[in-house]
Amino acid sequence: MVNTKEALLSMISQPAEDSGSKVTVVGVGQVGMACAFSILSQGVSSEVVLVDVVADKLKGEMMDLQHGALFLKNAKIVADTDYAVTAGSKLCIITAGVRQKEGESRLDLVQRNTDVLKHIVPKLVQYSPDTILLVVSNPVDILTYVAWKLSGLPKNRVIGSGTNLDTSRFRFLISQKLGVAPSSVHGWIIGEHGDSSVAIWSGVNVAGVRLREINAAVGTESDPENWKDIHKQVIMSAYDVIKLKGYTSWAIGLSVASLASSILRNSNNVHAVSTYVKGLHQVEQDVFLSVPAVLGENGISLIVKQRLTPEENQSLLKSASVMAEVQEGLKF
Ligand SMILES: NC(=O)c1ccc[n+]([C@@H]2O[C@H](COP(=O)([O-])OP(=O)(O)OC[C@H]3O[C@@H](n4cnc5c(N)ncnc54)[C@H](O)[C@@H]3O)[C@@H](O)[C@H]2O)c1
Repeated sequence: MVNTKEALLSMISQPAEDSGSKVTVVGVGQVGMACAFSILSQGVSSEVVLVDVVADKLKGEMMDLQHGALFLKNAKIVADTDYAVTAGSKLCIITAGVRQKEGESRLDLVQRNTDVLKHIVPKLVQYSPDTILLVVSNPVDILTYVAWKLSGLPKNRVIGSGTNLDTSRFRFLISQKLGVAPSSVHGWIIGEHGDSSVAIWSGVNVAGVRLREINAAVGTESDPENWKDIHKQVIMSAYDVIKLKGYTSWAIGLSVASLASSILRNSNNVHAVSTYVKGLHQVEQDVFLSVPAVLGENGISLIVKQRLTPEENQSLLKSASVMAEVQEGLKF
């Protein structure tokens, strides 16, 4: 019988196993697929592995992406319910678990998603002991702490997607009010990715001009321009989008791709991500919260110590207390 492949191609050597930018995405729901799609379409990685517990959906998502491989610089896309397929991943992104229903807060999901992580994290580390874990599932700050404990990895290699997304929402909303591009509006949301997040109004600036130099009340209750409302909109963003379309996906996918890019390209970009903050800004608890951090091939290499106002620092400490309280009742 004719073997077309053998007639067409002659073997010179076995292809090298290159896991340089291999990325695993666990959970092929709305968020996982938005992450995978952003990573692939932006060329952040040319090898993406998908894992989920629902075999049919997993295969369907894999096939749908593979059929576009021609337009993705021939990226390699594989999927399996067996974690062996994830071996040698440089980065593992966890998006599995339940999401908020309308009106539910992120903290409402905590025990259910902690139980999900117990199945996932040990297997990821077994097959990729040198990996970087990037947790996206909510409540992301608490689940990043859980993933850190379950994994045994050093804290620089366990990162939560944190307020990288909230910061993007913040910069977008300010940009709308000013008529300046989001990339030219500089500002940070730190703390919890959720209801107790902290807007660092004292540092918001365009081209180095701080809004507080123009209007000292920016971001406070007494501000006649009511800039504070923008932070309220950031906090309400997920609730509003979930009410309208049932879930959030595109912005978190793009946000995660930006983190993956900084890690895989070792770019040392600064992102607001969830990390172990005990000892920083007088935080005394064993908690993960977002602060600006330098991201590269080893995960987090440095943390930027922002000059917070006393009010901002106080709000961050409140965020830490909320996290510690929820963590106390957690079984894992
Ligand atoms: N950090 C953020 O900024 C952010 C933003 C949006 C959503 N989220 C969170 O991301 C998570 C996923 O949201 P979604 O909208 O994609 O949900 P979804 O319901 O669409 O998808 C969840 C997926 O997880 C899979 N899954 C469940 N248990 C699993 C297990 N043990 N192993 C492997 N896969 C498993 C499910 O089969 C499903 O495919 C939620 O916790 C949500 O709150 C986080």
